[in-house]
Amino acid sequence: MSIKNICCIGAGYVGGPTMAVIAQKCPEIKVNVVDINPQRIADWNDENLDKLPIFEPGLKEVVAEARGRNLFFSTDIEKGIREAEMIFISVNTPTKTYGKGKGMAADLKFVELCARQIAEVATEDKIVVEKSTLPVRTAQAIKDILDNVGNGVKFQILSNPEFLAEGTAVNDLHHADRVLIGGDIATAEGRKAMDALSDIYAHWLPKERILQTNVWSSELSKLTANAFLAQRVSSINALSALCEKTEADIDEVARAIGSDSRIGQKFLKSSVGFGGSCFQKDILNLVYICRSLGLQEVADYWEQVIILNDYQKRRFADGIIATLNNTISGKKITFFGWAFKKDTNDTRESAAIYVADHLLDDQGSIHVYDPKVRPQQMYADLNYLNTRSEKENEEFLTVCTDPYEAAKGAHAIAVLTEWDEFKTYDWQRIYNNMLKPAHIFDGRNILDHKELIKIGFKVRAIGKAY
Ligand code: NAD
Ligand code: UGA
Repeated sequence: MSIKNICCIGAGYVGGPTMAVIAQKCPEIKVNVVDINPQRIADWNDENLDKLPIFEPGLKEVVAEARGRNLFFSTDIEKGIREAEMIFISVNTPTKTYGKGKGMAADLKFVELCARQIAEVATEDKIVVEKSTLPVRTAQAIKDILDNVGNGVKFQILSNPEFLAEGTAVNDLHHADRVLIGGDIATAEGRKAMDALSDIYAHWLPKERILQTNVWSSELSKLTANAFLAQRVSSINALSALCEKTEADIDEVARAIGSDSRIGQKFLKSSVGFGGSCFQKDILNLVYICRSLGLQEVADYWEQVIILNDYQKRRFADGIIATLNNTISGKKITFFGWAFKKDTNDTRESAAIYVADHLLDDQGSIHVYDPKVRPQQMYADLNYLNTRSEKENEEFLTVCTDPYEAAKGAHAIAVLTEWDEFKTYDWQRIYNNMLKPAHIFDGRNILDHKELIKIGFKVRAIGKAY
């Protein structure tokens, strides 16, 4: 079975780049990416490739190659579904903000809506692929809708979670460590559908990297992969607090333990805390599932990863206030970075938001410079927390377009995102224009601390005793 027409519902951080790469690598397959958000679709179709809705290194080149050839972005969801043999569901699955499971469970209403729409529109057999991250056993819920609402057509449901990380999405897709395909492995139809999806990825990935499992293992592996990665960050961040009390150096400890090939170097960079749209959401979801199934100890174990992460963000903000004589009222604090990591304009759950909120509570005046995040996004992030009025957020948070201006007259600079450009600044010039003593709080341990101390800065960093 060879697929000629794909539809992807959801043109977000996953749907957009993933489909762009599939279209790039499979020129004989027509790929339609559809979304309910007309602005998002208009941005994907913008002639000016700098206006794509997502900033990802290498993405505009991929879109330039495939868009209009076999890659299309549209708001016509029904047409997309009708024409496709294979439909990816790549919509958002945020943490529920209401009712049962509020603050913990994944909100599946967008996924359910997609399933209903597919069932209503489809007149021929289709393969439906879960691309969104979903709680284990969601495929059953999707199947129930498809089988009961549909026009008698047959659906195969596959789980194909996405493992790309933002900022490296295109590279992660081009050189995926593995692709995971879960399906009804016990039946011939199930295996046929799994093979059809495997064939798409086999256009550019070696066959041995395409793993086929049962559908529940695939769903659970995605949540587990994120939980393991986040757990490493919380583990190293927990030790960073101990380092600050004992004069051990967290970067040295990370290097020492990471050299053990059983542990490995990756995801041991201590920080102001992990952010991003998924780590917290997926762990909360895992915790919720475990609790629902009566696995209290397992739930508590994973919940600690989040508790530690919240502690780390608060600890960083408290450290700034404590160092500046226990009050930052009226003091100018400059943030370098707002995105949750470098090379992305995504700010979802960024540590910067929570640190800013905490400092604003102490009446600090925050000036932010980030190379990619738009001002309206920063205000939206703060307003979403509902801690104070929108007017107050606008009054006390200023967005700057020049890092040197942002730092002029500041009491302190806090590095919240590890953008490479921060390392290349003229730090002597920045120092000259700051109030003295000039403080730096390096929440990412990216700056040359020795050099900064030589210039005259008072430096505090994660997991360092100075
Ligand atoms: P996103 O919010 O960027 O995009 C989701 C898109 O779906 C939005 O544009 C929204 O308008 C659209 N949408 C919602 N309901 C719709 C409907 N009924 N019909 C048509 N369009 C609809 O989300 P994202 O970051 O792309 O994440 C999508 C899923 O992928 C989530 O489950 C997430 O956990 C998972 N995931 C995300 C990443 C990541 O790096 N962001 C990585 C791996 C997996
Ligand atoms: C993460 C996973 O890495 C992806 O595999 C997964 O597909 C994705 O979540 C998802 O499901 O959404 P992402 O959140 O985009 O990707 O970015 P990461 O590189 O994992 O970083 C997450 C957060 O952890 C960032 O705030 C980052 O700064 C922080 N981090 C990461 C550290 O503080 N230290 C590290 O050593 C690594």
